[in-house]
Amino acid sequence: MKNISVIGSGTMGNGIAHVFAQFGYSVSLVDISANALEKAIATIRKNMDRQVSKGLIDEAEKTASMERIKIFTSLEDGVKDADLVVEAATEKIDIKLDLFRKLDKYTPENCILSSNTSSISITKIGAVTERPDKVIGMHFMNPVPVMKLVEVIRGYATSDEVTNQIMELSKGLNKAPVEVNDYPGFVANRILMPMINEAIYTLYEGVAGIEEIDTVMKLGMAHPMGPLQLADFIGLDVCLSILKVLHDGFGNPKYAPCPLLVNMVEAGYKGAKTGEGFYKYTPGSKELVVSERFK
Ligand SMILES: NC(=O)c1ccc[n+]([C@@H]2O[C@H](COP(=O)([O-])OP(=O)(O)OC[C@H]3O[C@@H](n4cnc5c(N)ncnc54)[C@H](O)[C@@H]3O)[C@@H](O)[C@H]2O)c1
Repeated sequence: MKNISVIGSGTMGNGIAHVFAQFGYSVSLVDISANALEKAIATIRKNMDRQVSKGLIDEAEKTASMERIKIFTSLEDGVKDADLVVEAATEKIDIKLDLFRKLDKYTPENCILSSNTSSISITKIGAVTERPDKVIGMHFMNPVPVMKLVEVIRGYATSDEVTNQIMELSKGLNKAPVEVNDYPGFVANRILMPMINEAIYTLYEGVAGIEEIDTVMKLGMAHPMGPLQLADFIGLDVCLSILKVLHDGFGNPKYAPCPLLVNMVEAGYKGAKTGEGFYKYTPGSKELVVSERFK
């Protein structure tokens, strides 16, 4: 494989493009928003500068990697020579199904189509294409250049050959791929989201405050970040939508989202990206300050 097309240039897409370019692949980065593409290139350059200053790559490698990335607002142009597509567009089922129908039409017939979705069924995505055996999940973690894990998700119809190719390719990116089957939440979010939800219930029921809950999990369980801070970092809207996928997918009330989470999302307090969730975020400050609403 030589040519990789990354669809969506947001938080995840720019990180995925960064890693493939760093490891020598030609990358076509596609987004419907020209502005998002410009921002992505600036972010990749800044993150590569950081790698240079840490001695992880040198200036020549940075320049060569940046030159391997081309940007496109036309999906058709951006995927026409692709050996592999990694779709990292907005987490909405309609957007993904529409994209995969088009990808099936515009890409060469041997191209593997992967999705970085956190929660949407790979089987369902594969079923809208004529090549469900070549549709697979590549669930990278944020921030992509730093995090080692790739959760490789086999849809119901994904072939062994394609799974093995994606496992090997991920190892070649210096990642640690783990193969899992396609059930709601896969493995990562099936375990993480109920923990976050339970932490929110613990707060909601007044068992303890925000700092106390996060401290118990940090110092008692050696988690690098408490579950409430992590929820803010992931985005409370994202946590809510994944919990809904688990709840709908398994039909089990244990996955029902905490009403406090629902309220916070409806009120627009979605965590770090909106400036406030369980904590309050001030641009430029790294201090962790509990939101006034919980004092
Ligand atoms: N943010 C995370 O921590 C994280 C972690 C793992 C997986 N994911 C998954 O990665 C995917 C992307 O998430 P994100 O956080 O990078 O989102 P984001 O909102 O930062 O970026 C999404 C990008 O997709 C673009 N887009 C929307 N529709 C498009 C289309 N039809 N064609 C091309 N581009 C389109 C948007 O313009 C935007 O730039 C989602 O499926 C999400 O579930 C996110």
